[in-house]
Amino acid sequence: MSGSTYYVTTPIYYVNDVPHIGHAYTSLACDVLARFMRLDGRDVHFLTGTDEHGQKIEKAAAAAGMAPQAFTDKVSQSFRDLLGVMDYSPDSFIRTTEKRHYAACQALWEKLVAAGDIYLGAYAGWYSVRDETYFVEGETEVGQDGKRRATSTGAEVEWVEEPSYFFRLSAWADRLLEFYEKNARFIGPESRRNEILSFVRGGLQDLSVSRTSFSWGVPVPGDPKHIMYVWLDALTNYITECGYPDTKNPLWKYWPADLHMVGKDIIRFHCVFWPAFLMAAGVAPPKRVFAHGWWTNEGQKISKSLGNVINPVDLVKTYGVDAVRYFLLREVPFGNDGDFQRKALVGRMNGDLANAYGNLCQRVLSIVAKNCGEKVPPKGALTGADAALLDRAKGLLTVVRTELDDQAFHKALTAIWEVIADANRYVDAQAPWALAKTDPGRRDTVLWVLAETIRRVTLPVQPFMPDAAAKILDQLAVAPADRAFTGFDKELVSGTPLPKPQGVFPRYVEPKVAE
Ligand code: MSP
Repeated sequence: MSGSTYYVTTPIYYVNDVPHIGHAYTSLACDVLARFMRLDGRDVHFLTGTDEHGQKIEKAAAAAGMAPQAFTDKVSQSFRDLLGVMDYSPDSFIRTTEKRHYAACQALWEKLVAAGDIYLGAYAGWYSVRDETYFVEGETEVGQDGKRRATSTGAEVEWVEEPSYFFRLSAWADRLLEFYEKNARFIGPESRRNEILSFVRGGLQDLSVSRTSFSWGVPVPGDPKHIMYVWLDALTNYITECGYPDTKNPLWKYWPADLHMVGKDIIRFHCVFWPAFLMAAGVAPPKRVFAHGWWTNEGQKISKSLGNVINPVDLVKTYGVDAVRYFLLREVPFGNDGDFQRKALVGRMNGDLANAYGNLCQRVLSIVAKNCGEKVPPKGALTGADAALLDRAKGLLTVVRTELDDQAFHKALTAIWEVIADANRYVDAQAPWALAKTDPGRRDTVLWVLAETIRRVTLPVQPFMPDAAAKILDQLAVAPADRAFTGFDKELVSGTPLPKPQGVFPRYVEPKVAE
């Protein structure tokens, strides 16, 4: 696969509000994949950005007393700022208010019209501005306060009756089912695949794809009273980026995307509407869509009205970026919902990071610094125990690669930490400090085996915790060029000078609250 393209995308985020932990989570998963694939020699394109049109944004701008463009400029910037805070490495940041995006949406629209998949009609039904989704009456219920809400999302719906263009989605059910059948990996995890299959098997209704009651969006070509449905506009971003409709654009080589990472709430848009639009326009659908679960905060649904929104910037200030990145991907099996608990984060910081990984590095590197002349120690004959530990470390890259192919971040991390635990047991069993007097040659070999194991463990840690991994690799004097996975089998060379060791994973101590 080396050299082949890898295109991974985050959803583009609504700019009605500043980023929170949910946004940070989706982007983090993509960032780890992008970094891993780059180290693995793939030609990566990692896209993120902001979704800036539609009624929801128009209303948020009005509530802020700002013109929509000025408002979206401001909020979009806060998503851009998050990239640095969380150490994300996108290749591009797209905004749906860009000219190139208008051109791509209108070109796609024209293709759909030419294919006979769009017709003019009138919509009469319920609409949720918060979800930017249409609902049939049976999907809504009236609450005790007399307000009608979507049963699945709890968002208020309003009655809409207006002329509208429709996309002939009803005609696509069979072709979609055939597509899912042929592309077993298109939807992950399996539970979501089943959810989509049964939804599509239940039959599809035509989809209203334009609105006339507001103006903040992309005008329909030839009928500018109509504004394109914001989801048609938003989904198109993934091909705008590659130059659509210009398939000669150098970035077109990245299409179809290898992975659209999304939250479970927006899987229907990505797995039903999007491949139908694309197939209708004669464009290949993406290869895979993976839906992750949702975080709650200490057992409660995260919501602005409850005032319990977790701000990733604050988290990073308190715990450090590497610990936050590690925790989010280690704590919860990726794909499941998870509960965010500070106690658990601190537990992982002090347990997995400081005690297990940090302590291993610290113990080994400080003995090496004190006893081996600040150089990689000489390597003597290996015992069975040495070879067993090294073999486990050697097998790690393949394991991590396989797990990440399935977006099983938690399993990749578990496999890495198992080798760290083995290495800590090996230190205790070999007790290199006790060998100093009896057998310094053997002590050096034990330390070499450990330093080499730390190197092998740390290479696949890089995508998860780029800063910490770089510091550890610096301390092992691993050349930058050997940090890509082509360097995985380049063992540490005895005699290489090493810099002074320093702790990488500080223990977290709760600040004392003044009485
Ligand atoms: N604008 C659309 C996406 C268009 S993609 C063509 C959108 N934006 S969003 O800002 O509302 O949400 C973006 C992502 O954040 C979604 O994948 C959503 O699942 C995720 N999260 C929002 N809250 C979340 C949690 N509490 N937990 C985990 N992720 C959640 O939808």
